Amino acid sequence: MTKGKVDALLGIVFGDEGKGKVVDVFTPRYDLVARFAGGPNAGHTIIFEGKKFVLRSIPSGIFDEGKLNIIGNGCVIAPDLFMQEAKELETAGYDLRSRLHISKRAHLILPTHRVLDRAYEAAKGKAKVGTTGKGIGPTYSEKASRTSLRVGDILDNFEDKYLALKARHEKMLADLGYTDYDISDEEKVWIEGIKYMQTFPLTDTEIEINRYLEEGKNVLAEGAQGTLLDIDHGTYPFVSSSSTVCGGVCTGLGVAPNRIGEVFGIFKAYSTRVGAGPFPVELFDETGDKIREIGHEYGAVTGRNRRCGWVDLVALKYAIMINGVTQLIMMKGDVLDTFPTIRVCTAYEKDGVTTTDMPYDTEGWNAVYKDLPGWQTDLTSITREEDFPKAFADYIKYLEEELKTPITIVSVGPDRAQTIFRK
Ligand code: IMP
Repeated sequence: MTKGKVDALLGIVFGDEGKGKVVDVFTPRYDLVARFAGGPNAGHTIIFEGKKFVLRSIPSGIFDEGKLNIIGNGCVIAPDLFMQEAKELETAGYDLRSRLHISKRAHLILPTHRVLDRAYEAAKGKAKVGTTGKGIGPTYSEKASRTSLRVGDILDNFEDKYLALKARHEKMLADLGYTDYDISDEEKVWIEGIKYMQTFPLTDTEIEINRYLEEGKNVLAEGAQGTLLDIDHGTYPFVSSSSTVCGGVCTGLGVAPNRIGEVFGIFKAYSTRVGAGPFPVELFDETGDKIREIGHEYGAVTGRNRRCGWVDLVALKYAIMINGVTQLIMMKGDVLDTFPTIRVCTAYEKDGVTTTDMPYDTEGWNAVYKDLPGWQTDLTSITREEDFPKAFADYIKYLEEELKTPITIVSVGPDRAQTIFRK
């Protein structure tokens, strides 16, 4: 953590790396916590003072009275879901309006964006992305095509703007032949959500963040999704629609590249993916089922089974390069406790060609593995690095050498106490 800098905390594979588990370690160190991309497709599970919260759009610094939280311009926000999420926090006793500012430049997800999300998926047939259905893609598409509505729009003559955009969406849906939908109930709550949002500070967050930085304060940019779901660097078209990488911190918050400090890359000791798309390390056997079961790998937003596999060095090296990761955080080491052999994907192979560089088209590549001995020891009660079983220490050392990046935090269980800071 450096004064006057923005540190980034990023999922560097397919999301769901378990950021929620470490944010309570991170957020106390920062004056401001900001979300820079994505929206309610994210589901960060946070346990605070023994209570479980799933944060979708709200940054995880929200539990701390003295901290400013920002939903940045790179985000998309659904007023109804935001209201639901925020009211849950208010009911639990957190005063949000003094600690949460929303960028006027963030874009609004309309109920009809969610219908369009479903309609586009339906039209794709077998090539479905498997989206979260939250309207993310249609909203970012309209942001790019300059027809979208922004949070700032709700401050003035909103109804007319809303009705015009809704009519445009209805026409698009009719053109797609997608007419079997009814948003009337959803729309009522959504409009209520707009009124609720109007009671929050809707601000020029890029100016606020830069003011903080000028004053030498620290900012944490909290990522959502993961590098391989990034619109540019992910496994396109099986990606989300925002910039989930470190470059997205600059555009999604309005901070200059030279303001970036540490880049923390989070990954799991194995790999998972939700939704469709290439996943060379995917296990279709009992081992995959066992990882899913032990690791509770079911989607926080959609409840879908996560696809599971071994750790992927091709993906991690690529993500470290794209993000400029300075420190790695390895989560869920304990999930692999019972496996006699731990496999690591070191390369991809297709039609006699082997590569260690992330290919343009990850479809059809098979993983090439190196086998390492498992530790077959319960890691969950270990609190000091010195007590790691040799095979686990060797696993970490091997990954660090291959990835040329230090793993500074290792998590061996869901509890705060099961987080080990390495020297
Ligand atoms: P969308 O972001 O809803 O458009 O979904 C696009 C793809 O990203 C789908 O494969 C989703 O399952 C995946 N995705 C979106 N958000 C998350 C997340 O927070 N964690 C993991 N996968 C996600």
